[in-house]
Amino acid sequence: KKKIKKLVQLNKHYYDLSKPLVNDYEYDKIKSEILSLEKKYNFLKSEKSVSEIVGYKPSKNFKKVTHKVPMLSLSNAFSRDDLINFEKKIINFLSAERNFKIFYSAEPKIDGISASLTYVNGIFTRGLSRGDGNEGEDITENLKTIKDIPKKITSKNFPKEIDIRGEVFIKNSDFKNLSQKFANPRNAASGSLRQKNPADTKKIPLNFIAYTFGFERGLSINNQSVYLKELDRWGFKVNPLNKLISGVNNLIENYNEVEKKRANLDFDIDGIVYKINDFAMQKRLGNVANAPRWAVAHKFSSNKAISKILDIEIQIGRTGALTPVAKIKPINIGGVVVSNATLHNEDEINRKDIRVGDIAVIERAGDVIPHIISVDKNKR
Ligand code: IVH
Repeated sequence: KKKIKKLVQLNKHYYDLSKPLVNDYEYDKIKSEILSLEKKYNFLKSEKSVSEIVGYKPSKNFKKVTHKVPMLSLSNAFSRDDLINFEKKIINFLSAERNFKIFYSAEPKIDGISASLTYVNGIFTRGLSRGDGNEGEDITENLKTIKDIPKKITSKNFPKEIDIRGEVFIKNSDFKNLSQKFANPRNAASGSLRQKNPADTKKIPLNFIAYTFGFERGLSINNQSVYLKELDRWGFKVNPLNKLISGVNNLIENYNEVEKKRANLDFDIDGIVYKINDFAMQKRLGNVANAPRWAVAHKFSSNKAISKILDIEIQIGRTGALTPVAKIKPINIGGVVVSNATLHNEDEINRKDIRVGDIAVIERAGDVIPHIISVDKNKR
């Protein structure tokens, strides 16, 4: 009960107040502790099980509106084994052959705030936040200030009614110019989007990338990759790194490639989402609790990331001790934007052969100062 209470409090700070109390690693840890307790002791599973919780109840600042189709969450995968299991379960569920080839839409998971935009006869009529998944906040006026959101769509094949869903986010380059009010771009986007006054939302440049839909009437498309192409034609921004992939090995190859590019992207991503491409197959698979069975989020490590060493500076401590510090290209490690990593001392630099310009793996464990694990000598 104590742990659940803590989690609800963390959710409130993260989703409602846009000011997280702990980093993503700490959050995931407490959540998985509760989940494994529930799994082990069935009687602990209350109606309000954490596995059913999505986000936080809508803020009182906005009118509450029920989503016609709930906004679900995604289950996570962290390893090759998790992916193999994910695919195995799907093949079992579909009673397909063991070597059945499944195509996935692999989409970088932007770390922002999801929103659902309702269009009726091509007109943007209402925009909701996710809220608790069932009820969202009516943030239409705030969403209207976002340039990437088309206000009117005249394409012939645009459905009579559709909820276009995607992510609202702030670019890293814009985040840099903001005051130090927010820990990371996601919190800045969340804070900005949920301002009472749309004029305040407009002050912070927000972006929107579309990737799915909720309720629809008149959508005649049968797979995700075609849907993504149509979104582009209708005037929405879609992620240029989206790919159509089959086979766990290819998924992992793409994951590694994208992770290397991460520090150079102008938006934060915290993993790759894999969705079964075929809509008919998605429908057959359906959902479990609050997440679809046909999709999974392959998360990046929440305490390690890859970035570039821009410079090495010598810091002078209170006692006069000299400590070399690597200035790195800012990278979001589990919710904390890191731009410095300690190099400890000269021996450490020599031992690991760390040089300015190197591509390095940086670790940020708990609340200790981030440090460099290794550098990629092949990248020089
Ligand atoms: S699909 C039912 N696609 O991830 C499918 N979500 O934990 C759920 N997200 O709330 C959404 N990029 O904020 C989907 N390409 C993408 C995404 C994506 C980021 C976020 C979204 C959602 C969360 C799920």
